[in-house]
Amino acid sequence: MCGIVGYLGTKEAYPILINGLKRLEYRGYDSAGLAIHNGNSIVHYKKKGKVSKLEQEAEGQPKDGNLGIAHTRWATHGEPNDVNSHPHASQSGRFFMIHNGIIENYDAIKEALIDRGFSFQSDTDTEVLVNLIEDIFMEGALSLEKAVQAALNQVSGAYAIAIIDNEEPDMMVVARLGSPLVVGLDNGNFYVASDATPFVEYTKKAVYLEDGEMAVLRRNQTISVFNIESNTTIEPYIHQLTLDIEQIEKGGYEHFMLKEIYEQSRSIYDSLRGRLLPDEGKVIMRGVSEYKERFLKADRIIVVACGTSWHAGLVAEYIFEELARIPVEVEYASEFRYRNPIISEKDVVIAISQSGETADTLAAIKMAKQKGATIFGVCNIVGSSIARETHAGAFTHAGPEIGVASTKAFTSQVAVLALMAIKIGYERGSLAKTEYIQYLHELNRIPDMVEEMLSSNDDNLLGIAKTYASASNFLYLGRGVNFPVALEGALKLKEISYIHAEGYPAAEMKHGPIALIDENMPVVIIAQKNANYEKVVSNAQEVKARKGKIIAIVSPEDTEMRKIADHAIEVPETFELLSPLLTTIPLQMLSYYIAVIRGCDVDQPRNLAKSVTVE
Ligand code: G6P
Repeated sequence: MCGIVGYLGTKEAYPILINGLKRLEYRGYDSAGLAIHNGNSIVHYKKKGKVSKLEQEAEGQPKDGNLGIAHTRWATHGEPNDVNSHPHASQSGRFFMIHNGIIENYDAIKEALIDRGFSFQSDTDTEVLVNLIEDIFMEGALSLEKAVQAALNQVSGAYAIAIIDNEEPDMMVVARLGSPLVVGLDNGNFYVASDATPFVEYTKKAVYLEDGEMAVLRRNQTISVFNIESNTTIEPYIHQLTLDIEQIEKGGYEHFMLKEIYEQSRSIYDSLRGRLLPDEGKVIMRGVSEYKERFLKADRIIVVACGTSWHAGLVAEYIFEELARIPVEVEYASEFRYRNPIISEKDVVIAISQSGETADTLAAIKMAKQKGATIFGVCNIVGSSIARETHAGAFTHAGPEIGVASTKAFTSQVAVLALMAIKIGYERGSLAKTEYIQYLHELNRIPDMVEEMLSSNDDNLLGIAKTYASASNFLYLGRGVNFPVALEGALKLKEISYIHAEGYPAAEMKHGPIALIDENMPVVIIAQKNANYEKVVSNAQEVKARKGKIIAIVSPEDTEMRKIADHAIEVPETFELLSPLLTTIPLQMLSYYIAVIRGCDVDQPRNLAKSVTVE
């Protein structure tokens, strides 16, 4: 959480910083700020609220200069206000710093600094760190980088930082531990950011700092990277970025979320491209093949994830258990890591993460790795921390997801996990060849089915959204592999429309939630024609008997459910285990339309952030 941006080069820093912040706003938007060195001194502006507020604040003010740092915040220490916004200045005003992460021992350091005569303006851990750096510097450190290094060796926690010095208009120091930081390189121009999106139009060359590394950037020189603890110099690996500017723009859509919902035919296709070869009867997944023996002999699969990715894990549980006959446990990463779980070398842990940066998921796999498990990643972001921490993996290739509420990342995760389960099931002998081939062909049809669905359901969904946009509660019911879809549908609605919503296994409704049902309660029921159909229809009758309003996801030829439902949304039929790839999509659309009607900020819902790098 929090986005950081920095620039050092020959161009004007301000527009680069502001554009960069806007691209990183998905990481937090409680406040924003920037500091620019104009060659003589540093000017800085900070403001509670979004980046647009900061722009207003800086309008008409001096902001020339070609060295600068900027920050968009998701508050951890201290309420979101102007004072707690970054950058933070050291007491003398010499150093300005931005920070993403948490300094855990900041309290003890703060007390020691107060004893040494420091006073603090803000409640943040960041102001403590920048003053610790100043204190060490004033004590006679040879250089800013040495002071930064010494300070970082005293702190515990997580950070990605960038710091500039009033007395040094040609240099910036950056460092990372636990929070992401990437430096774009372009002939002596340096772009610093939490991910590569702020500078993708300027350069495709990037160095991803590893945990425990810092870098010194000097005007017209090459980047110098070294290890914070051991002080050894590191030869940086220069990545070639494949990201395009079009991928991170709205492309005519009103919101990123809508664009990303509509991209799903393409993104699912991209997740399967080159891997799924139905006519040849093949699945090519290098990561799975490299660890084939581990999968074939696995005692169980443990999925660790958070949020929407956790829901994809639940879908995978049904698919893996059915097709590959491997027991699967799906764990909230945040619970798993603190539970001293029993893990053996015969366990395969699958970490699912769009961002690849979620702190709890990262910590969970580090722990499981130490205990000898094989760690497999299903991540969207290439080069991300989780992707790098795993033994092997399969990227989802969904493309950048900018809307805070996850949509296309979810369906891509499910597509990749389904493909893995089909491959492993066949190789373990639990999925017969004919079924295997049928699954490959059916999965291959999904992108076209998504395309067809997205072009037909719009008006119907908009009408339903208008009818229920002022409801205070929603219930989502599903059975089997569509139970996680109910959870995901409820989460989407909560996240972006702030309507309270709960997902439940349809049969569990009578053990509690049924008490909530009256004529004001919309109940979304996933009721496609499959093995559970009759049972779901009975559950719908129970809702109807209590005057609940039923919004049903039905198969095109359905007749029974339509008779009971107040509204029916048609979704094409596919194999039951693959159906979440389709049934999820109208639920995303419904949430989207309701949020728009309620006037909510769809792409940046309150209090949320897309990349949760705090625990
Ligand atoms: C945040 C996001 C969610 C996401 C979750 C896990 O809560 O708002 O959309 O599902 O983090 O993120 P990950 O990047 O690990 O999938």
